[in-house]
Amino acid sequence: MAERDAKDMALITGASAGIGAELAREFARNGHSLVLVARRGDKLRALAAELTERHGILAEVVAADLLEPDAPAELVAEVERRGLPVAILVNNAGVLESGGFHQMEEGRVEGLIALNVRALTLLSHAFIRRFVAAGRGRVLNVASIGAFQPVPSLAVYAATKAYVLSFTEALSEELRGTGVSATALCPGMTDTGMMDHAMAGTGGKLNVPHAMMSDPADVARAGYRALMAGRAVEVPGVGNQLLTGLVQLQPRWLVRAVGGFAGRRLER
Ligand SMILES: NC(=O)c1ccc[n+]([C@@H]2O[C@H](COP(=O)([O-])OP(=O)(O)OC[C@H]3O[C@@H](n4cnc5c(N)ncnc54)[C@H](OP(=O)(O)O)[C@@H]3O)[C@@H](O)[C@H]2O)c1
Repeated sequence: MAERDAKDMALITGASAGIGAELAREFARNGHSLVLVARRGDKLRALAAELTERHGILAEVVAADLLEPDAPAELVAEVERRGLPVAILVNNAGVLESGGFHQMEEGRVEGLIALNVRALTLLSHAFIRRFVAAGRGRVLNVASIGAFQPVPSLAVYAATKAYVLSFTEALSEELRGTGVSATALCPGMTDTGMMDHAMAGTGGKLNVPHAMMSDPADVARAGYRALMAGRAVEVPGVGNQLLTGLVQLQPRWLVRAVGGFAGRRLER
């Protein structure tokens, strides 16, 4: 099983930066060939060259904007046109938009749902159908610790991640006995461009030292291990595990009230 998986080709969305790029490095280190997907083709090509050189794996690049309505279907068609035997799907691409919901531009609200929910779901649908027909495959969907609770001032983002967690947990049970597994990776604050963007959005009110954030390479390693073990949910890092465990033990009204208090302080 391990030897077979070591050769499986993984398609990773959002591989041009952050956690996705580290996931690509982790898969390559473990001998997987790759299909790297994001908008910035130059970054993907540089990463593909690095990984091919260092690990001798095949790394294909598909530059795509997954916000575009037809992009998920076109990506699947491109994989088929190139005859790439993808057996692992990693839905990592995501965006974060913060601020009061009523103040957000409609396009930003739409973008959150189009990428974090729609593209992830359609890619899962297309690939899982193929994986089930083949009797094997693995899916890793990147959620967040924000999936475990409502997060005022990140209302839509956290709700998209709650969707990813719920969707993936449901699939992990539904797919039992098919040879296909589904895993939700739920990172806490991780040192990537997304956190810089999130902190900038609060005008300096949220200022977490980089040393207190998770290293994206550690998150990727935890995600890879959980995927290969077929685990349904992975929360990387002891602190994040304690936090999400505590949240799940509290009454919903208390979780909501604490989130509301923190959110109002950030918006003031
Ligand atoms: N960083 C955190 O603290 C944290 C915590 C929990 C969960 N997460 C989740 O982890 C995942 C990765 O986040 P990250 O922190 O690594 O963010 P990041 O550094 O901002 O990277 C995001 C990746 O998604 C790609 N992407 C963005 N929009 C896209 C689009 N329209 N079409 C295709 N690709 C697109 C970006 O590439 P291009 O710009 O080249 O398209 C980039 O490769 C996300 O799902 C995020 O929600 C992050």
